[in-house]
Amino acid sequence: MKKILVINSKGGSGKTTVATNLVCQLTRVGECAALCDDDPQASSTTWLSARPTSLPGIHGVNPHQINITNRTRCWQQRVPVDTGYYVIDSPAGIDLPKLYDLIRGVDMILIPVLPSIIDINATSDFVRNLIKAGKVRAAPARIGIIINRSRERTLALKKLESFLDALELPVIGKLNDSQSYVRAIDQGLGVCELKKGYRREQRAWQEILHWVLGRSPSACKTEPAVQRVTDSAPVVERSATALPETSTAIFETLHSLV
Ligand SMILES: Nc1ncnc2c1ncn2[C@@H]1O[C@H](COP(=O)(O)OP(=O)(O)O)[C@@H](O)[C@H]1O
Ligand SMILES: [Mg+2]
Repeated sequence: MKKILVINSKGGSGKTTVATNLVCQLTRVGECAALCDDDPQASSTTWLSARPTSLPGIHGVNPHQINITNRTRCWQQRVPVDTGYYVIDSPAGIDLPKLYDLIRGVDMILIPVLPSIIDINATSDFVRNLIKAGKVRAAPARIGIIINRSRERTLALKKLESFLDALELPVIGKLNDSQSYVRAIDQGLGVCELKKGYRREQRAWQEILHWVLGRSPSACKTEPAVQRVTDSAPVVERSATALPETSTAIFETLHSLV
């Protein structure tokens, strides 16, 4: 089972939007995905309870409703045995101990970031902590940035892209600022499950899915050949442990950008 953590200590950056859409996208290509709501605000749980029963079911886990000491081990016991992907929606305002706890044993870390100066500054602090936390982890995780509420040709987007370039973190997708996300979340859906008007959103998700699955999303799980990510694919992989060497220079560069 692959564990995917959706995280950014900044509230409103799009963690729940990314986590809920990701489980829908994975389900759509035939993967068994579970959604863990690790935010006491329980937005993912609310989303799941609004989900129409006519759609493919998504297994939800809410650790805040489980009264046990070793939560990590027990969460895993509570998902169906054939779960291939375990997507964790995390809370805002994460301190270092909580960050260490959350990243333990994860395979992928997705960080949604909004194109605004406030969010860039908050994310810079958060990534600094993530790098620190990466130092104490045994196994590296792949880190992917998702630019959320992106508006083409805006100064804010340019600044965010320069910031991410300086960090040498891969942007694995750009979600446009769209009411489709708002409508979908209200109805317990992913944008791919809306009746119409989600074509542009779906293109962005194809790229994200490609990165997550390590193969083309059109190649279903049941197909024999698994296509690996090639050099021509618009994705780059980076491990959390590879970052610290460059971080000091990066954060110095940062302040000249924001
Ligand atoms: N790409 C987007 N386009 C439009 N609205 C969005 C988009 N992403 C998120 N939102 C809205 O922004 C708000 C915060 O998003 P949310 O996913 O709940 O953030 P977080 O979980 O990080 O606090 C929600 O109302 C959500 O519907
Ligand atoms: Mg949330």
